[in-house]
Amino acid sequence: LTGYVTYDPGYKNTGATKSAITFLDGEEGILRHCGYSIEELADQASFLEVAYLLLHGELPTKAQLDAFEESIKKYSVANAALLKIAEAIPSSTHPMSELSALVGLMEGQYASNEPAENILRLLAALPIFAAWNYKKSIGEPIVAPDQSLDYCSNFLKMMFAKPGEAYQVDPIVSKALNKLLILHADHEQNCSTSTVRLIGSSHASIFSSISGGIQALFGPLHGGANQAVIEMLEEIKQAGGDTQKFVEMAKDKNSGFRLMGFGHRVYKNFDPRARIIKVAADDVLTALGVKDPVLTIAQELEAAALSDDYFVARKLYPNVDFYSGIIYRALHIPTNMFTILFAIGRLPGWIAQHKEMMTNKEPIGRPRQIYVGATPRAFVPMSQR
Ligand code: SDX
Repeated sequence: LTGYVTYDPGYKNTGATKSAITFLDGEEGILRHCGYSIEELADQASFLEVAYLLLHGELPTKAQLDAFEESIKKYSVANAALLKIAEAIPSSTHPMSELSALVGLMEGQYASNEPAENILRLLAALPIFAAWNYKKSIGEPIVAPDQSLDYCSNFLKMMFAKPGEAYQVDPIVSKALNKLLILHADHEQNCSTSTVRLIGSSHASIFSSISGGIQALFGPLHGGANQAVIEMLEEIKQAGGDTQKFVEMAKDKNSGFRLMGFGHRVYKNFDPRARIIKVAADDVLTALGVKDPVLTIAQELEAAALSDDYFVARKLYPNVDFYSGIIYRALHIPTNMFTILFAIGRLPGWIAQHKEMMTNKEPIGRPRQIYVGATPRAFVPMSQR
């Protein structure tokens, strides 16, 4: 992995992070990685091509991509160190907690002194840990990585193949997963990426930084929303599909109910990823011959919310999490692993942002505050309180 393109736009230090990786325009609903639009990348690139782009700032040549893919495969082996780490965690934990713990444990037992090696080890390990965690949760033996398959197909085979039985990865499924992982690959300074950068800025290891990023992503207001969306759609289905009732509930602050998969800190227009995933959801379910009633409910809920002044006035549109779970379900990914898939997709972005920060020798992160507490006062002895 060659050195990173350093970048100094020269503007005064607004306290904002400077980065050359991802550009967002929340008003216009624009997302680009190193100048390339998310629409073109999702449509024409492979997930590892996008991972390479985020790490290097340039799309790879065929030779560079092949070498990158081969170097990740070198670590995609069921080696003893990874097995030992994977067996160390009780399977009673939630997959996201387990994944965070496993990545943290990589530091002790599976780390290199060479940062570029650790990047490859992380990219190789996450799908393996995720698939093995799933196998453990359903009481099936783990399936070793298959070096003959591409990144997405290898993950699907480790997830769904049964030892001793032939398993053919459906190209429709692998292609859908490839697109979903690209759409999650990086997203500027979101909550989990900022966590990765903040932990990494103290020069804690990249494993500790990624482990912390996984925990931040787990929150239902962030990456955990994709699982919460499906749970919400199922609740609406159980309640007879009355989407208007749930739109009204979401407008009532006292209800404590939010439309999961709606709204965004930056996008005050459509999340461009949501547009792509909405089309892909239709295409993938049709291609797989899957009829999922929650897709219809999602479409009706979106239409009801987007025709309601409360949502329009607050610029609340579907975000990346609104339709993604519907595709994951069609790919037979269990609901409690949706956020794991988000983490596998976001991993190259976290790593690239961490690498950029270290390459640019950024100082330790130290967000400031506006103090709004008590004015100076003398100590009060206990007898007078
Ligand atoms: C991700 O940052 C990123 O880039 C994140 C992400 C990434 O790729 O890394 O894009 C991934 O995390 C997407 C977001 C997934 N989360 C959800 O879908 C959870 C549901 N959404 C919300 O909780 C909320 O919209 C947030 C958390 C996403 C944003 O929260 P904010 O910034 O507090 O929302 P806001 O201040 O813009 O809200 C403005 C108004 C408020 O009402 P008022 O006080 O003005 O009357 O809109 C209301 C909010 O109460 N509102 C909602 C709502 N989201 C905001 N009302 C109902 N349902 C919602 N989903």
